[in-house]
Amino acid sequence: MSTDLPDRQHTAPGHPGRRPPAPRPGTATPPIAFVGTGRMGGPMAANLARAGFDVQVWNRTPDRAAPLTGAGAVVAPSPAGAVRGAGILITMLADGPATEQAATGPDGFLPAAPGLIWVQMATIGADWTARLARTAARHGVTFVDAPVSGSEGPARAGQLVVLASGPDRMRALLAPVFGALGRATVWLGPAGDGTSAKLVLNNWLVDLAETTAETLSFARRLGLDPGAIVDLLQSTPLGSPYAMQKAATMLTGDFTPAFALRHALKDAELAVQAAQASGTELALTQALLPRWRHAAERHADDDLAAVYTTA
Ligand SMILES: NC(=O)c1ccc[n+]([C@@H]2O[C@H](COP(=O)([O-])OP(=O)(O)OC[C@H]3O[C@@H](n4cnc5c(N)ncnc54)[C@H](OP(=O)(O)O)[C@@H]3O)[C@@H](O)[C@H]2O)c1
Repeated sequence: MSTDLPDRQHTAPGHPGRRPPAPRPGTATPPIAFVGTGRMGGPMAANLARAGFDVQVWNRTPDRAAPLTGAGAVVAPSPAGAVRGAGILITMLADGPATEQAATGPDGFLPAAPGLIWVQMATIGADWTARLARTAARHGVTFVDAPVSGSEGPARAGQLVVLASGPDRMRALLAPVFGALGRATVWLGPAGDGTSAKLVLNNWLVDLAETTAETLSFARRLGLDPGAIVDLLQSTPLGSPYAMQKAATMLTGDFTPAFALRHALKDAELAVQAAQASGTELALTQALLPRWRHAAERHADDDLAAVYTTA
């Protein structure tokens, strides 16, 4: 495992105070196609365009891509249109089925761009990653599996952590791209390892969120002030910054999404599946699934902190 810290000394002409990221010696960054400009993909694509890369975006709902023209990106009419002339493609769609649809469905990007480097950054799980890597290979496309840690705020601030995996020869070419998206890139091994690491991290995340919701509910039922319990936890090493942030959200009841419950539930399910396939069991995560599914019936598009409503 190695960590490449992003090069932040270069800024882009045309954008005050910015020059384009300098390509490493012997490399140059080709135009980038960005497919999926949702809560995460939108700010990520904007950061690439603002950093001076040549960026062409596509999103199923065009209104969500249109504002990116303000950052210098060009909006394409289809996934195939987005990769025309591009050398690198980034996908940041909801899940495996959506990504496959954009890849090989009508006007899909895969048949349109042999020789492309496809960087898959959404959380789609181990099986979908393996399946799409095989499909990419059949089309003569290099596949890099690089999900991210960090939610909407870090995506906007260019402070994600990129969990990269794939061919070593991609590292130098992708360093300035990942540098514009995140504060660190961790190269883990062959494609698939990034997704494995992401599932491990998000298993930790969903278990923390669940225990936070249960702890607040438990305190309330014992007649305690849950806010006082949060203060108490915060004064000890027990109160992790993430759990404390989610606890605050749970207590305000403002579930404006940073990480939608539908995606967190997907990740919990993907982690349980990956654990089962590896011959182990995630007892905690398995136990939370029924209540999270119940919470998602009303709060799928709210922040995952909404699981507190069923705790
Ligand atoms: N939010 C986070 O904190 C966070 C952090 C790390 C990783 N992730 C992962 O990153 C990915 C994107 O998350 P997000 O928060 O950006 O989600 P989001 O705001 O819901 O965006 C999802 C994107 O997928 C598109 N999409 C969904 N179904 C589609 C389909 N059938 N065909 C084509 N496009 C489709 C959406 O298009 P429309 O705009 O047309 O709906 C949108 O561009 C997910 O895998 C998520 O688990 C999220």
